[in-house]
Amino acid sequence: MLSNVYRLAVCFLIAGFLSPTFADTPVKNLGLTTHITADDVKLRIDTFDEIDRVFKALRFKVVNQRSTNREGSLEYSSQLVELSYRLPDLFDTLSSQESFPMSRSRPEIWSQKARFDLLMDKFVDNLEQIDDQIKSGELVKAGRLIDETAKGCRRCHNAYRYK
Ligand code: HEC
Repeated sequence: MLSNVYRLAVCFLIAGFLSPTFADTPVKNLGLTTHITADDVKLRIDTFDEIDRVFKALRFKVVNQRSTNREGSLEYSSQLVELSYRLPDLFDTLSSQESFPMSRSRPEIWSQKARFDLLMDKFVDNLEQIDDQIKSGELVKAGRLIDETAKGCRRCHNAYRYK
């Protein structure tokens, strides 16, 4: 009898010991390695900075100026597609601000990777569609998708990027 009580006590003790480990985001226990260099993280930041610059230029041209200059817009939209193709690989491996201070990435990217990947896929997909629409001269349609894509930037940042 006493030994059962003793065993129970030990179980509670172990459970109490382990539960904070499980309650916390177990990023370190996801089996992800950190074989990513500071250069990769820097490339990620630079890529977003470039995307930011080109996206604003495209939005200004297509949405604000309602430009009908297809060639000019196409230069931006195709650049955006190319830049976005770099991103998925650069998020392959756990590399949040906790291990790379210059990064604004939150660890939730890797603890909720499926959801993050969905937002990233949607983003790349939208940029491809915008490029196609501009190619075929559907500039009003492209303008609407540009605005929708801008909301996607904010949605992803709210969840996965430090302020
Ligand atoms: C699927 C998620 C996601 C989408 C979509 C996304 N971003 Fe980001 N963005 C991030 C994350 C994560 C970071 C932080 C990267 C880092 O520092 O490691 C970031 C960083 C940035 C940065 C800051 C780079 C720096 O200097 O620290 C800019 C600017 C930026 N994004 C602009 C944009 C714009 C503009 C769009 C839309 C056209 C966009 N992002 C779409 C996730 C996203």
